Amino acid sequence: MGLKRLDKLIALHCNVSRKEARQLIKDAAVTVNGQRAMRAEELIDTETDDVSVKGFNFTMREHLYLMLNKPQGVISATTDPTKATVLDILPESLRRRSLFPAGRLDRDSTGLLIITDDGAFAHRIMSPAHHVYKTYEVTLSDPLDAAGVAALEAGIRLADGTDCLPAKVKTFTCEGTPCAEIRIREGKYHQVKRMVAAVGSHVEHLHRTQIGRLRLDPALALGDCRPMTDAEVAAVLEDPAEEAEPQLP
Ligand code: URA
Repeated sequence: MGLKRLDKLIALHCNVSRKEARQLIKDAAVTVNGQRAMRAEELIDTETDDVSVKGFNFTMREHLYLMLNKPQGVISATTDPTKATVLDILPESLRRRSLFPAGRLDRDSTGLLIITDDGAFAHRIMSPAHHVYKTYEVTLSDPLDAAGVAALEAGIRLADGTDCLPAKVKTFTCEGTPCAEIRIREGKYHQVKRMVAAVGSHVEHLHRTQIGRLRLDPALALGDCRPMTDAEVAAVLEDPAEEAEPQLP
């Protein structure tokens, strides 16, 4: 991104006007590389300079990438006339006009959702052509049998004739409840629920744990979010087949 004026960058990253950005600088709310910022026109190297506003540290990347542990009851959309969206639950300091969820989780689903303003990155996550695996842990009404697992792994046809790409499936029980870890690399409407229904069970709860090689940070409680590191952004587009086997409960 190169060199940018400090007030312009603050306006962009904090979703405030240039005038408000200058006031933040006057109010001693801004530091650059640990020193109080004095001049709105100071030039910031967006690759290397470290800017904080009210103690919140910004890496001045062109795009923002947030990891959210989505709770139940909010929808994966930017706006809705009646229901709360995933953007409504972001802390004020992280809200920006251009953010949107990169992919969808159903209203009653929980877990890893990336919120970003990077359209090209979101497209890569969502497009089946890019083979980004999403990993879901589901609790089930009935255990999946070997034939059901084999059908899902071969690529199942849903009740309405939709064909799904082959999935990766592991079954286990959690405190006596039948569960499965299901990995898919596409995101059709209610896909996991419909795949499970097609092999005679029912998803009681669905939680996304991983996208590519990015795992949901276990320190994030439901409803919490935080900016992602550069390594985490890169991990999203990496193949989980190349990592160590995930630890199932
Ligand atoms: N598949 C579903 O059925 N629901 C989700 O929320 C995500 C994947």
